[in-house]
Amino acid sequence: MPDVDAQTREIYHRIAKYTMTSPERIAGLCQAVRYVTDAKIPGAYVECGVWRGGSSMAAALSFIAAGETERPIYLFDTFEGMSSPSTHDLRAKDGTAAAELLRLSKKSDKIWCNASIEDVTINMASTSYDMKRVTLCKVWLNRLCQCKLPRKLQCCDWIQIGTNRPDMNWSTFIRAWFLVGF
Ligand SMILES: C[S@@+](CC[C@H](N)C(=O)[O-])C[C@H]1O[C@@H](n2cnc3c(N)ncnc32)[C@H](O)[C@@H]1O
Repeated sequence: MPDVDAQTREIYHRIAKYTMTSPERIAGLCQAVRYVTDAKIPGAYVECGVWRGGSSMAAALSFIAAGETERPIYLFDTFEGMSSPSTHDLRAKDGTAAAELLRLSKKSDKIWCNASIEDVTINMASTSYDMKRVTLCKVWLNRLCQCKLPRKLQCCDWIQIGTNRPDMNWSTFIRAWFLVGF
């Protein structure tokens, strides 16, 4: 990453083995955190689908570097790997169905994205971010969040979000957020 600053490079090297996110996207995330802190934009950091927590570690380290240690961090995941793919989930480069890719793999292979909540807790704690501000939510987003999501929160990958469930009011749960993609 020749074009990024030393701090971002250092953060990336620290978290690289805990993320599937590319160096460029981690650099973008660090920059986004810096923008939010410089502009004093309030709110929480939310990541849906965290695997071993590397992206959130990069965010936490960037918050610490900016002198912010109190921003709430929410990490949503099954902490048991991917939920079942649908027929819409295809590998971009050749159209192979995700179900087929999973069938041909072992449960321990990276494609299953298995990482436990204990592993992610240890990894997040290693950043020295105040763990009282970090909430890990074990949740199957495709089952529980049959709700109307606020416009600012979007999901990608094969996490499926259903349609309206008016009884869930996310806006009282988290006031503002920004989301990292995969
Ligand atoms: C590609 S990995 C995420 C990579 C991560 N953002 C990183 O920085 O390395 C996808 C994650 O989504 C989680 N996931 C998949 N389906 C889910 C669902 N229905 N609800 C919650 N988490 C889910 C998996 O357990 C996995 O950790």
